[in-house]
Amino acid sequence: MQPIQSKEFFEGEFLLPGDKSITHRAVMFNGAAEGEAVVTGALMGEDCLSTCHCMRALGASVDVDGTTIRVKGAPQFRSGQDLDCGNSGTTIRLLTGLCAGKGIEAKLYGDDSLSTRPMGRVAEPLKGLGAQVATTDGHAPVYVSPARLQGTFLKTKVASAQVKSAILLAGISADGETTVEEPVKSRDHTERLLSAMGADIRVDGNKVSVRRSALKAVDVCVPVDISSAAYFMALGALKGRTLCRNVGINPTRTGILTAFDKMGVRYTLQNKRVSGGEEIADILVEKSVLQPIALGGEEIPAMIDELPLVALMCAFADGESEISGAKELRVKESDRIFTTAKLIRDLGGECEEKEDGLIIRGKKCLRGGVADSFLDHRIAMTAAVGLIASKDGGGVLRPDCCAISFPTFFENLGVQR
Ligand code: S3P
Repeated sequence: MQPIQSKEFFEGEFLLPGDKSITHRAVMFNGAAEGEAVVTGALMGEDCLSTCHCMRALGASVDVDGTTIRVKGAPQFRSGQDLDCGNSGTTIRLLTGLCAGKGIEAKLYGDDSLSTRPMGRVAEPLKGLGAQVATTDGHAPVYVSPARLQGTFLKTKVASAQVKSAILLAGISADGETTVEEPVKSRDHTERLLSAMGADIRVDGNKVSVRRSALKAVDVCVPVDISSAAYFMALGALKGRTLCRNVGINPTRTGILTAFDKMGVRYTLQNKRVSGGEEIADILVEKSVLQPIALGGEEIPAMIDELPLVALMCAFADGESEISGAKELRVKESDRIFTTAKLIRDLGGECEEKEDGLIIRGKKCLRGGVADSFLDHRIAMTAAVGLIASKDGGGVLRPDCCAISFPTFFENLGVQR
């Protein structure tokens, strides 16, 4: 168990690790491109290391030095590889599309958690392009076999950047045009990077179209991950004052700020600038009196990974909050509707599960206690924030999973390991 003490005041300036989604894409797309690229400020989380490992197996050269990754692409992938994607949904789903496009044989698999997550959502649309993709009862292992792809129009049922990206990565190797339309626009890092790498790509609202393209390597400077910064931003709002520097504020990722606006969190975006095709800013958050909120519908995709934390913050508001339209939480690294409700209750709060969300009865504080991570990195980090802000503190069971997206989390938090 990782003990966590409650704190009267939490204050500081933080330079946190790089963005997980962008690091995956920078390594994967450059690994499939012509030429060499340098990725700086990369996240060295276990998920991104899974991507590095798979790209090496496919023939790319990937050299890691601190937070810098040098990638030499393999435009022709090595066929017949078993690709271990670890815990990473982004690795398995994007690579399934990329391997289908490259016309190779590959087996993609992962750990117990990844093996429970739905893969039909990627296999089915890829089959619509003519790809040969077989799942194991809708799950991993996923098997890709060579096939010639034909572009088509595909409408996805869920707003998922992983599904959209898999289709686009297959589409850049298909004959004709491939268009994917989402119900709500999900994070658009794939579109931005493919465009920077010379792909023939067009974005029209929630629709993205691609045509056959050869990718050219491009250097990427990765911004700080707003999904990691969110824990420190929340501590600023609950307990004092935090300044997180160089945070990516791509509008498809800033749902946490929408939640902050509704809750009455006092924050400012300073020094707004553009770096490597992505907007970044320094985010200052100050102690605030939190209001209960209702969240749902189109607001959800831009804060999908932050919802456990937002729910926790609602426990510190005065009154009832409701999160709806977030059924996707059930198929993340854990069933995050169940694990978030349990976490809030284990720390002394009141929270009820709905099929597609949560009802949180905020009482302005949490007592503290012991919470299990369920081996889900976002649940472990949400629990740590809740305990620092709680009355008595307590501990997090199975805390090491933080390394999936944020290996230095406890160090940045100033908690002794
Ligand atoms: C991601 C997309 C999201 C998100 C995940 C990273 C990505 O998943 O939850 O942490 O990098 O494309 P979905 O596409 O399943 O919504």
